[in-house]
Amino acid sequence: MILNRPVRLLYFSPTGTTRKILEKIAEGIGEDQPEHIDLTSPEARMGQHSRIKRGLTIIGVPVYTGRVALEAIRGIGQFKATDAPAIVVVVYGNREYEDALLELQNITVEAGFTPIAGAAFIGEHSLSTKDVPVAHGRPDSEDLDCAAAFGVLVNEKLTKTDSLSSVSPLKIPGNFPYRERGPARHVSPDSDDSTCTRCEKCREVCPTAAITLVEGYIQTEKNKCILCCACVKSCPYGARHLNDPQLRQFIQQLSITCSMRKDPEFYL
Ligand SMILES: Cc1cc2nc3c(=O)[nH]c(=O)nc-3n(C[C@H](O)[C@H](O)[C@H](O)COP(=O)(O)O)c2cc1C
Repeated sequence: MILNRPVRLLYFSPTGTTRKILEKIAEGIGEDQPEHIDLTSPEARMGQHSRIKRGLTIIGVPVYTGRVALEAIRGIGQFKATDAPAIVVVVYGNREYEDALLELQNITVEAGFTPIAGAAFIGEHSLSTKDVPVAHGRPDSEDLDCAAAFGVLVNEKLTKTDSLSSVSPLKIPGNFPYRERGPARHVSPDSDDSTCTRCEKCREVCPTAAITLVEGYIQTEKNKCILCCACVKSCPYGARHLNDPQLRQFIQQLSITCSMRKDPEFYL
């Protein structure tokens, strides 16, 4: 049996769907209070190198253009693991996850982990709104039950496995070389000055420090914004909006082409 304690969650999750799923997987494993290593804030990815030894690490990232979000790669790169099993999890907005899970597996191996299971789950699309929904409200209770069930399966695998060296490589879909990330868009959500109260919640949740308060106004640095929409979703006054016409058209399209519900997939 491979030792599965402590259970730690290692994640980048601007809008919280990835974190929710990892917590449920941990519950399925039998750990209600896992250790959290949250890589979402810019400070958490400042390059303090840390070692991870033993225990079970559940690593989760959102899919951005079919790849692992770049900030997550930087964050995970800070860790050097030995003798450490990992579960790799990608969360995507009901379009596709393409090469992201394969990429995450390779990144974790490079960091010294041994991936023993992988999964792709669905979370509300970052760009989803009530009016133009894409996987709105996911992960829902069905997804969370699936995450807990996956945790149970992982636990069974750990119990039956004698040593990390006997774990066979996972058969995860995806291609290498990975797909292109696509060009940077240099667009961002903006604050509507008539409804914004300057509470600075948007600034606090921004994972790339793209938002500042300058002379009483919220300003967003477009070339720092990764369009995660944490600011839009966390604004208590609904004052943040994505106004870029091209992006709005893209979301409209996604809402139609990605309306068919996809289900979580497990690799064990
Ligand atoms: C820049 C960007 C690119 C994205 N690319 C994809 C994608 O290729 N496929 C997909 O299904 N969802 C995509 N999404 C949606 C996220 O993967 C999804 O909303 C995820 O649940 C966000 O995770 P979080 O809540 O942990 O931040 C993208 C989101 C952003 C911001």
